[in-house]
Amino acid sequence: MNAPNRSGWKPGTPELPEDIIDTAGTVSGNRGLALEEKLIFEIGTSDTTGVDLPEPSPGAANRLGGLERSEAIGLPGLSEPETVRHYTRLSRQNYAIDCGIFPLGSCTMKHNPRLNEKVARLPGFADIHPLQPQETVQGAVEVMVELADWLITLTGMHSVAMSPKAGAHGELCGILCIRAALEARGDSREVILVPESAHGTNPATAAFAGYRVEDIPATADGRVDLEALTARLGPDVAGVMITNPNTCGLFERDMKAISDAVHEAGGFVYCDGANFNAIVGRVRPGDLGIDAMHINLHKTFSTPHGGGGPGSGPVVLSEALSPYAPLPYAARYADGTLRIVEEEVAAEEHPHAFGRMTAFHGQMGMFTRALAYILSHGADGLRQVSGDAVLNANYVLRSLQDVLDAPFGPSGPCMHEALFSDDSFAKGVSTLDVAKALIDEGFHPMTMYFPLVVHGAMLIEPTECESKAALDQFIASLRSIAERANAGDPSLAQAPLLAPRRRVDETAAARKPRLAWAEPAEAL
Ligand SMILES: Cc1ncc(COP(=O)(O)O)c(C=O)c1O
Repeated sequence: MNAPNRSGWKPGTPELPEDIIDTAGTVSGNRGLALEEKLIFEIGTSDTTGVDLPEPSPGAANRLGGLERSEAIGLPGLSEPETVRHYTRLSRQNYAIDCGIFPLGSCTMKHNPRLNEKVARLPGFADIHPLQPQETVQGAVEVMVELADWLITLTGMHSVAMSPKAGAHGELCGILCIRAALEARGDSREVILVPESAHGTNPATAAFAGYRVEDIPATADGRVDLEALTARLGPDVAGVMITNPNTCGLFERDMKAISDAVHEAGGFVYCDGANFNAIVGRVRPGDLGIDAMHINLHKTFSTPHGGGGPGSGPVVLSEALSPYAPLPYAARYADGTLRIVEEEVAAEEHPHAFGRMTAFHGQMGMFTRALAYILSHGADGLRQVSGDAVLNANYVLRSLQDVLDAPFGPSGPCMHEALFSDDSFAKGVSTLDVAKALIDEGFHPMTMYFPLVVHGAMLIEPTECESKAALDQFIASLRSIAERANAGDPSLAQAPLLAPRRRVDETAAARKPRLAWAEPAEAL
C-alpha cells in the first residue's frame, strides 16, 4: 500500500513527467524491477545443459536395442542459474496467497501454515513409497487413521474414504457409494436432484456417474426451495446433491427436513462439504441426516491449493453407505495394530466395496499437513476458525453493501463468503471491469459470474486468515472501484493498466489457445 507509516515515511512512486510516461519503453523490456521474461524455448539452446554427465566408457554395451534417439530432443537447454532465474522471474509476475489477500469465493484461498510444511517434509513421511512393506510405514498409516478419526468426529459420520484426490473426485466417490447401495437392494433409480445454488461440480458429477440431473429452484432468499424439492421426490430419485453452506454463502437451514424427506422417499443425501470451513466445530453434518460428504482438505484444513499442490477430498459416509466405501483404507484393529486394507483381504473384511478411486491410498503429503493443522488448532481452535471466517465475510458484506448490491444481504448474516451483484453499476460497466481494476489496486480479483443465480455475481471469501487491517485495505480499494463503476467511469474498461499484461481477448484465449511453441520459420 502506498500509504505513510507512523513515522511519516511514505514509500511513494515518483511522479513521471508525461513525455517520459509516453516513451517509458526500455531497451531490456523490463520496467524498473518488474522483469520481462521470454519463453524458455527462446532463452535455451539445444547445446546447453545444466548437468554434467560422464561420457559412456568406451566399449560399454548399448542396451537400448535399436530404440536409441536419432534426432535432436527439441528441448531447450539451460544452465542451472538460467533455469532458476527463468522460473523466479515468472513467479514474480504472478500473485499468490503469500503476497496478500486472495478473495476467490468458493475456493478458500487461505494461508498454508509453515509448521504443516515442516511436518510434511519429515523423511518418514516424505521419502516413503506406497509399495513399501506395511511394517516399515506404520507411522504414515497412523497419520491416516488419526486424521480419519478426526474427520469422523468433526462431521459426526460413521466412516471416511480417504483416497479421493480432490473435491470433485470425492463427489464421484460418494455418488458411486450411493449407486452401490441402491444396486444392493435391487433399486435402479436414475435421477439426482441438484438445487440451483449447488456448486457446478455437483451436476457434472451426477451426470458423469450416469444419472439424469434435474434442477431444483432456489427461493428468493437464496436457499433450496424445500417445497419444490419434496414435490419432485419419488421412486425414480436416487438422491440429492446439496452444497451446504451453499454457493450464495448461506446456510441451508432446512437441511434436516430435506434429508428426512429424501430418506422417506428411499433416496440418499449427498452434501458438498467444500464449504465445511464455515461450520467446522459448530455443526456436525451427520446430525443433519447426510449420507455422504466430501471435505476439501485444501480448503478447510489449509493444505496447499490448485497449482500449489495436489488436492485431497476424503468422503465421510453414513452407516448405510459405509459398507460400499472403496478400497484401500487404513484401519486400526482391536489389538492396536494398523493396516492398509487391500483387495487380498477384502472378501473377509470389506466385501461390498464398489471398487477403488485411486491406485494407492491418497495424498500422504496432504494428510500430514491436514493433521498438523488440526492438532495445532485443537477442537477449540477449529471452532474459532469457522467463527473468524464467518466474521470476516460479514465484515466485508456489511462494509460494502452501501455501494454494491448485496442480493441476499436482507436474508441475514452470510457464512464464509459475501455475495454481490452488478445491479448498481452504470450501463456499460461489467463485473469483469471491476475485477480487472482490482488487479491495478494490487489484489487478486474475487470469483466472478458465479453463482449463476445472481447477475454479474462477485463472490468474496476473505477466510479467517486476514486481519482487520488487510480487510480494510481491500474494502477501501473495492469501494473506490464500485463508486467508479456506479458512476460509469469509462476508464474501467481499460483496466488493468498497471499489470505486466493488459486485458487479453479471453474468448480467443479460451477458444483458440496457442499452447505449443513452434520454431520460428526463419530459424529452421
Ligand atoms: C463448493 C465446491 N464444491 C466442489 C468443489 C470442487 O473441489 P475440487 O476443486 O477440489 O475438485 C469446489 C472447489 O472449489 C467447491 O468450492
